Amino acid sequence: MNHDFSMQKKSVPDAANRLFDLIIGSWASQIIYTSAKAGIVDKIQTGFNSMEKLASILSINKPELNRLLSAVDALGLIRLHDTGLLELTEMGELLRSDKDETLHPFALLCGQDWHNKTWEHLFARLGSNNPAFDEVMGEPVFEYLTKNPIAGALFDNAMNALSSIWGPYVATELDLSKLHSVLDIGGGSGIFLAQILTHQPHLKGHLLDLPDAIDRARQSKHLSHFASAQRCDFIKGSFFDAIPVKADAHVMKFILHDWADHDALTILLNSHRALNPGGRLFIIEQVFSASSPPLARMSDIEMMLFGNGKERTAQEFIKLLERAAFKVESIKTTTTPFSIIEATAL
Ligand SMILES: C[S@@+](CC[C@H](N)C(=O)[O-])C[C@H]1O[C@@H](n2cnc3c(N)ncnc32)[C@H](O)[C@@H]1O
Repeated sequence: MNHDFSMQKKSVPDAANRLFDLIIGSWASQIIYTSAKAGIVDKIQTGFNSMEKLASILSINKPELNRLLSAVDALGLIRLHDTGLLELTEMGELLRSDKDETLHPFALLCGQDWHNKTWEHLFARLGSNNPAFDEVMGEPVFEYLTKNPIAGALFDNAMNALSSIWGPYVATELDLSKLHSVLDIGGGSGIFLAQILTHQPHLKGHLLDLPDAIDRARQSKHLSHFASAQRCDFIKGSFFDAIPVKADAHVMKFILHDWADHDALTILLNSHRALNPGGRLFIIEQVFSASSPPLARMSDIEMMLFGNGKERTAQEFIKLLERAAFKVESIKTTTTPFSIIEATAL
């Protein structure tokens, strides 16, 4: 005889299930990192779409691969069909390394040993004034990336990944139509500048970054076409020094949040000195508030760990910009998590 005891069964509180899912968030991150590193998504896309084929091409043990694929299916990156065939989902497509729009390098960054070790230092950081990265790795992050070209290139690629997804939606919102030239300060490999130049065919661009980042930018595909057409050039330098080029507008995307107020102010003052009065500054950042989505609040912690930076509120941006003799004209949200703070040099 079957008895239905469902009336007597108590449900686990939803809060417990949700908390548990959050606690195992780092497991999900490691599974995604491993799938990206092992090339699982790439191979499925190129036709190795069964567990047997994948195991042989990747030289991975079949039972372990089977279990990993089950977890990747549960996370929603692939679909494991009853027939044994594997298929990428829309999310899985975004982890392909051969696509222009991809988060593959960002998944790799988040699985790096130095990235994990820095996050492990969060508890200690609460009682210290030093960035966790400096404590763990013995030097500031951008010095480390300069000395370790593989990590430096990985970091550039991870930043490019974010621009590959969100950049076009921001670039098209910048009001540059009446200007002739733009300087991307700390522009990395130049993908965002390329997106701006694509959208504004009349515009010339300059890319400024640290020397090794500029060497990588010259070799990358993003600006090569614009460089050949003499629509952009590359400047090796530091935004903590005088900026050696004139432009009608400056762009700073994901720069100020890396730095504490006194450093951010130095960068802004250098930008101000290099602009003519009336020159425009476009800052692209998350604007923090008590109701910011989780991304902004967690990226604020990443800034606390990797440097002395932070995600700033609208008021904090306005005050900082006033101190550097800029007037904030507007703070525009976009369809991405990032806003555009437009200011004029007084
Ligand atoms: C968070 S990344 C942002 C890169 C790019 N703007 C983007 O949105 O993808 C910070 C950038 O600042 C550059 N950077 C760090 N210190 C710098 C300095 N002193 N002078 C110029 N660039 C610097 C790094 O090389 C890196 O490209």
